[in-house]
Amino acid sequence: MNILIKNGTIITSRNAFNSDIYISDGRIAQIANSINVLEKIDRTIDAKGRFIFPGGIDPHVHMHLPTTAGFSSDNFETGSKAALIGGTTTLLDFVTPQKGQSLIDAFIDRKSDADKSLCDYSLHVSPVEWTNQTENEIKDCIESGITSFKVYMAYKNSIGLEDEDIFKVMKLVGEHGGVVTLHCENGDEIENLRNDLSQNGNLSPEFHPVSRPNHTEAGAIQMAIEMAKLTKCPIYIVHTSTSDSIQYIEKAQKEGYQVYSETCPQYLLLDDSKYQGDFASACKYVLSPPLRKFEDQHDLWNAISKGVIKTIGTDHCPFNLEQKKAGIEDFRKIPNGAGGVEHRMKLLFTFGVLQNRISYNQFVDITSTQAAKIFGLYPQKGELAVGSDADLIIWNPKTENTISIENHHQNCDLEIYAGFETIGEPEIVIANGEIKVENGMLVSESKGRFLKRTI
Ligand code: URP
Ligand code: ZN
Ligand code: ZN
Repeated sequence: MNILIKNGTIITSRNAFNSDIYISDGRIAQIANSINVLEKIDRTIDAKGRFIFPGGIDPHVHMHLPTTAGFSSDNFETGSKAALIGGTTTLLDFVTPQKGQSLIDAFIDRKSDADKSLCDYSLHVSPVEWTNQTENEIKDCIESGITSFKVYMAYKNSIGLEDEDIFKVMKLVGEHGGVVTLHCENGDEIENLRNDLSQNGNLSPEFHPVSRPNHTEAGAIQMAIEMAKLTKCPIYIVHTSTSDSIQYIEKAQKEGYQVYSETCPQYLLLDDSKYQGDFASACKYVLSPPLRKFEDQHDLWNAISKGVIKTIGTDHCPFNLEQKKAGIEDFRKIPNGAGGVEHRMKLLFTFGVLQNRISYNQFVDITSTQAAKIFGLYPQKGELAVGSDADLIIWNPKTENTISIENHHQNCDLEIYAGFETIGEPEIVIANGEIKVENGMLVSESKGRFLKRTI
């Protein structure tokens, strides 16, 4: 398919300029003023008054995640549809093996599920134990195109790892040129706090944040950074949520260590007052780490603007109300997580760019380019340049919307951003040179591809 986009304003992480852009065979073929094409053009789009951004990359989603309360409510098909409608054209999800299952077998299983995705995707693989096979399995994963490995310092009774095993993963992955991503929360301390709360009958959702205070994240981050220094492994800290965490990350970056950090819209825009109120309203905010305070939000925005926080993921992991009710008597049984993959770009544009917290270039950097660079997808993804995949959004900066359960496309009857008023939206979303979304509607059901990454 050949598409000519005329008169748009192209925004990359470094530049902004008016230009035409020509797409052919899934790639960006030309970026220039007044492009004249000799070949047959299938579609010409006038993008006057519109921004053209690289397609969004969400580096942290959990589609169809198995939990004791059932699967997270978006599968790869519904979740990727919501992502595309919101302007995200690449997803990074996770492979979480059963104990005893090899990483590569778990990867093959997960890939067959993820192949239903309507947009391109890749996977981070999570070692959930260290066995005498793990070293070879990690090497096999790298050969299969997986270059990032996720470890959990929390959830010790299921998928979490002890620090000594995290150290082994970091050492190995670092030696092979990969990156280790970490869920940083001190699992042991959280377990003790949860047990204390339970013994005192404090089991409603308002006690979820009490069981995971700020220092349980910041302390875990401090430990992760120490291990990264010793192993020389690049690390990527997911869903950073506290002021203290940022200080440790910034210090390590200044010392020259490859310590990358992600935050999520929920930590920028929602606070822990949401845990007050009845179960049906509070349960939707039960996610980990929990929502924090206004001061933390302020410091997170500041860290984005200074470049300390590099990316915005959503940690998209929605559950329906019936599933959340598994914890109606005990907040510890509420499946953790909430949706956001559809709203990330709009929220960052409205509350970041339009409120002068970040520039247009930074918007592109945190929603697309940095994730591509950190996870080995650049410049195929995350860039508007000749030869890059033609993943781009034609963005109308004026459209006003109010997020609601009725109008969202995420497959969930809960919505943590309900009532948020946004300005700006993707009018046309192009992925691999094909128009996938037009005026808020999915117009192509073609599947995405697994992105094999190399070190
Ligand atoms: O509450 C969350 N974040 N659920 C998803 C799993 C995780 O920890 O990222
Ligand atoms: Zn996590
Ligand atoms: Zn997550």
